Amino acid sequence: MSAMLEVRDLEVSYGKIKAVKGISFSVDEGEVVTLIGTNGAGKTTTLRTISGLLRPSAGSITFQGQDLTKVEAHDIVQLGLAHSPEGRRIFPRLTVEENLLLGAFSRKDKDIDSDLQAAFELFPILEERRAQPAGTFSGGEQQMLAMGRAMMSRPKLLMLDEPSMGLSPLMMKRIMTTVTTLQQQGTTILLVEQNAQAALKRATKGYVLEVGKIVLTGSGEELLTSEDVRKAYLGED
Ligand SMILES: Nc1ncnc2c1ncn2[C@@H]1O[C@H](COP(=O)(O)OP(=O)(O)O)[C@@H](O)[C@H]1O
Ligand SMILES: [Mg+2]
Repeated sequence: MSAMLEVRDLEVSYGKIKAVKGISFSVDEGEVVTLIGTNGAGKTTTLRTISGLLRPSAGSITFQGQDLTKVEAHDIVQLGLAHSPEGRRIFPRLTVEENLLLGAFSRKDKDIDSDLQAAFELFPILEERRAQPAGTFSGGEQQMLAMGRAMMSRPKLLMLDEPSMGLSPLMMKRIMTTVTTLQQQGTTILLVEQNAQAALKRATKGYVLEVGKIVLTGSGEELLTSEDVRKAYLGED
């Protein structure tokens, strides 16, 4: 069986600066795959390229057998690939519910109510505060909203860019537990994190990215116990 998402020899540049220097990785259906790496490693650039917001200078991106490198971003959402961006990017003046509905913009069917209900079940606070401007939410609540919004497109593959960034340990745990819940509900996940430990604990497979290159790969378990990863990312020496 071929992978759900297959990235091959991907290169992405900003002008003369090459941010992603030929990386290859794959995500199989049902997996939680994590890309970990410090600031500037190229994680966000990789996700934005998969989403069609940036174009690669070389390499291929195949999602369910289809080449994405020339597909428009909104069509990529329709194919079943959702992106919860770094920094959440919610619309602060819109209500929580309006933000959620924006996540369903690409949908052609009329069954959006059941998806709202699913988002509310995932994060009950979104229902309690549905009429509140999203800008009044805390960082953790905004992250819940960003994930709920991404789920509104009914993705087969959900990409999360640093969902734990800036969150309290308790909120981080809540968000990470939801990653596992979504996986159990049948969503495949590509999780980008600087928080290596939290991500690897839940990952079926992980890739370590350093200045645009993959330097290490293995199962979540293998990377968690790897000396190199422990030294570089888990604050041990
Ligand atoms: N819009 C941009 N213009 C120029 N360089 C950028 C831009 N965005 C990111 N970069 C550079 O690309 C590299 C990778 O960045 P990024 O993908 O954001 O890394 P990460 O998400 O792993 O922190 C960094 O050197 C960063 O400075
Ligand atoms: Mg980033």
